[in-house]
Amino acid sequence: GRFDAPTDALIERLNNSLVFDGRLWRQDIAGSVAHATMLGKTGILTPDEAAQIVAGLEALRGDLAQGVVILPPDAEDVHTAIEVLLKERIGAIAGKLHTARSRNDQVCTDIRLYLRDECDNLNTKIAVFQGTILEVSAQHFDTILPGCTHLQHAQPIVLAHHLLAYYWMLERDRERLNDTRKRINRSPLGAGALAGTGFPIDRGMTAELLGFESVLPNSLDAVSDRDFAIEFLSFAAITMMHLSRLAEEIILWNSPEYGFVLLDDGVTTGSSIMPQKKNPDVAELARGKTGRVYGDLMSLLTLMKGLPLAYNKDMQEDKEPLFDAVDTLHLVVPAMQKTLATAQFRTERMKRATAGDFSTATDLADYLAGQGLPFREAHEIVGRVVRYCIEKKIGLEQLDSDSLAEFSPLLRENPDAALAVLTVEACVAARNSEGGTAPESVRAQWILANETLKRS
Ligand code: ARG
Repeated sequence: GRFDAPTDALIERLNNSLVFDGRLWRQDIAGSVAHATMLGKTGILTPDEAAQIVAGLEALRGDLAQGVVILPPDAEDVHTAIEVLLKERIGAIAGKLHTARSRNDQVCTDIRLYLRDECDNLNTKIAVFQGTILEVSAQHFDTILPGCTHLQHAQPIVLAHHLLAYYWMLERDRERLNDTRKRINRSPLGAGALAGTGFPIDRGMTAELLGFESVLPNSLDAVSDRDFAIEFLSFAAITMMHLSRLAEEIILWNSPEYGFVLLDDGVTTGSSIMPQKKNPDVAELARGKTGRVYGDLMSLLTLMKGLPLAYNKDMQEDKEPLFDAVDTLHLVVPAMQKTLATAQFRTERMKRATAGDFSTATDLADYLAGQGLPFREAHEIVGRVVRYCIEKKIGLEQLDSDSLAEFSPLLRENPDAALAVLTVEACVAARNSEGGTAPESVRAQWILANETLKRS
C-alpha cells in the first residue's frame, strides 16, 4: 500500500532470498503452525480461524513434501512464499497468520529450528566416524610406526594411539556441538519486528510447541542475535580443521615415499594423462574444503560486526554460509569415514621406517638414568653412542654389546640389558603411563573411548 511503483527488477533480484532460504520451508511451516495454534488458544484469533490456518499449513506441508506444490519462484523469500501458497489454499483468512508476528522473529526461529536438527544429524555422522576409528584402532594396538615432532622421527608409537588422537578431537567437536545446541534451542518467536507486541501472546506456549527449551528474554536481542550461528560455524571450522589434519596425514602416508597406507579405489581417482596415478582426492578435498568453511565463519563474523540493533537486511546474508558449512560437513565427514574404513595400512613398512632412525635413543638415556646416572650425563653418553653409529652407518638396534660396553662403565655391567631397551618394541612397551603409547595403555584408552562413545 505504501508504494506507487513496483520494485525494479534488478533490485528485486538483489533482495530475493528465496533462491537459498527456500530450504527452510519445513521449519517455516512448523513455526507458523505453533504461532497459529497459540493465536487460537489465547483468543487473538477465534478457534475456528486458527484451526483453518493450521489445517491449511498442514495440508501444504504434505503437498510440498510430495512435490505436488512448489514454492512460487517470484516470491521474495520463503516466508512470503508459504503465505502466498496458504492464501491460494484457504483464502484471505491466511492473512491473519501474520498477526503479532514479523518476518524478523520468524526468520531466526526458522534458522534455529534448522540448525537444531543439523546439530543432531551431524552429531550422528561424527559418532559413526568415531566408531570407525575405534574399529580400525582395535586392529593396530601392536602396529609400530615412527611418532614425529617437527615431521622428524621422534619416538616410536603404535598406530592405534595415533588414530585415537583423532577420536578425541572429534569427541570434543561433538561436545562443542552439543553445547552450541543449548544456545540454539531458545525461542525468539514473539519478539515481533523488534519491540514485542501489544497482542496478548503466549511466548512460552509457542516455545514449548516447537521444542525450544526457553524464551529469549529481550526482544531486540532475540531478533538480532546470530551468535548461535557463529558458534555453530566455529564448531564447523574446528571440525574441518581436525579432518584436514587427518587428511594431510593420509595424503603423506599414501605417497610412495611413506607408503604407509593403500587407499581404496573407491576413494581415489586417476589422472586423465598419467595412467599410473591414483590420487587421494577425498583427503585433498577435505583439506581444501576446510578453507571454505573457515570462510563461512569469517563471513558471518564480518557480517555482524557493525550492525546496530535490531534487524538489518544484511542479516539475510547469514543463511548461505550456514548452509554451505552444513552441506560441506555432510559430505566430508562420511567421505573421510569411508576413506579410513577402507584404508589398508602397510604395517611392515611402518615398522621398517623406524629402522635406523635413532628413535630409541631416549630409552638408552632413560636406562642409564635408571642405573643412577644423572640424566644430563646419560644424555651426553647416548649422544656419543649416536655419533658412533652414524659414523659406522648403523642403527642403534644394530649395535653389539662389546661396542656398547665401551661407552660407560654402567653399560659394561650388563650390555645386553642396555641393548634390549633399544628395540622399538621395548621402547613402545616402556611408555606405559596413562595416555602413553604402550599397547597396554592404548588398550585402556580404547576402552575409555568406546565407553564414552556408547554413553553419548
Ligand atoms: N528474508 C529475510 C531474511 O532472511 C527475512 C526477514 C525480512 N525482514 C525484513 N524486515 N525485511 O533476513
